[in-house]
Amino acid sequence: MRVYGITNVKGGSGKTHATVHLAYLASQRGERVAVLDLDPTRQSVNWIELAGLGLPAMPLDIKQDDLEGYIAQLRSDGDFDAVFIDTPANDRDATLETLLVSDVALIPVGVGTSDTGMLGTTERQVKRALQLRPSLKPYILINRARFAPARERETEAECAKTGIPVLQSRIPLRGNYQAAAGKTPTDEHYAEVWQEVNA
Ligand SMILES: Nc1ncnc2c1ncn2[C@@H]1O[C@H](COP(=O)(O)OP(=O)(O)OP(=O)(O)O)[C@@H](O)[C@H]1O
Ligand SMILES: [Mg+2]
Repeated sequence: MRVYGITNVKGGSGKTHATVHLAYLASQRGERVAVLDLDPTRQSVNWIELAGLGLPAMPLDIKQDDLEGYIAQLRSDGDFDAVFIDTPANDRDATLETLLVSDVALIPVGVGTSDTGMLGTTERQVKRALQLRPSLKPYILINRARFAPARERETEAECAKTGIPVLQSRIPLRGNYQAAAGKTPTDEHYAEVWQEVNA
């Protein structure tokens, strides 16, 4: 079982979109997928239910629930091939706990937003997690790409400074992205992301 933690302490960076797209994609490819939503607003769970994607999606409150124990149980049950964890904004504990149970961490960072300004906070959690879990593979995913080349290069340079590998695959800025929530995920760029993180 592979655990994908989708996290960034910065809000609105694209965590939920990445979670739902990748989980759906993996399930379409025959993987047995579960989604854990640590965000109290339950956006991933709501989307998956509203769109009728047929994926088990569970909300989890890390203040009450034992994420580490939960993941250990899922690993030993062996019912899932891939588990995706969506995390809340502005919650360093949830970010760190997620990183500590993940095999792959995806950190979406938006171009032309204030995402890079707060990247240091997430970077510190990733570095703490790597000390305790050296097998963790963290990747930055540049989101809202391909509309402002100069700003994209700036974002790329800021991301590179963290030392966290930056994925070649990017998610372009989409005018109709807001409307995607609650629908079947269709952004085909996540297929490239999937391929790259599982290469
Ligand atoms: N590539 C994109 N192009 C256009 N809009 C996007 C893109 N990615 C995300 N958005 C929009 O940005 C907003 C935030 O996206 P999303 O909910 O996935 O981020 P999040 O990191 O989960 O946010 P939160 O921290 O609040 O949970 C949404 O309204 C979404 O539609
Ligand atoms: Mg979210």
